[in-house]
Amino acid sequence: MKIDSLKTLLEEELKDIYSAEKQLLKALPKMAKNVASEELKAALEEHIEVTQGQVERLEEVFELLGKPAKAKTCKAMQGLVEEASEIMEEDAEDAVLDAAIIGAAQKVEHYEIASYGTARTWARLCGEEEAADLLQETLDEEGEADKRLTYLAERFVNQEAEAENGSSNGSGKSSGSKKSSGKSGGSKARGR
Ligand SMILES: [Fe+2]
Repeated sequence: MKIDSLKTLLEEELKDIYSAEKQLLKALPKMAKNVASEELKAALEEHIEVTQGQVERLEEVFELLGKPAKAKTCKAMQGLVEEASEIMEEDAEDAVLDAAIIGAAQKVEHYEIASYGTARTWARLCGEEEAADLLQETLDEEGEADKRLTYLAERFVNQEAEAENGSSNGSGKSSGSKKSSGKSGGSKARGR
């Protein structure tokens, strides 16, 4: 097809994002199932609902633009989801896997943040203010999700992953808060 205007480009971008969100909606439950930390699990599960809302919001955006909601396979999300799946197949310690899944989820969030930021700006430039506002709402949510993942990673997951360095007597680092977190759900069996 011919991308002859910014409006057409916006519509194409929205099809990509629509596909990305739908792919993520399928991938998130598996990610949530594979984490050991209860807090991380809760964050991922909550993001499933948020993502569902974002899919619906995109449908509203299509409607505002007078276009049918159509997805065009987002290859970037396919790759990101595939990499997340690959790491989940590995035999990893709970906390290490949690750190890996946070990393994978943050790559997804950053991709979405870039896409929504772009689409929001294009919508604004096309005079589609209402659509731009909706896209901004989702952009804010993705930013929140990203921050929450950073918070969880910094607070305990990375520390615990580092502590599991393959030997029982640590690296001599004094990670004081490690024991006090207690909320990481310990060795809850993964549901594979
Ligand atoms: Fe999203």
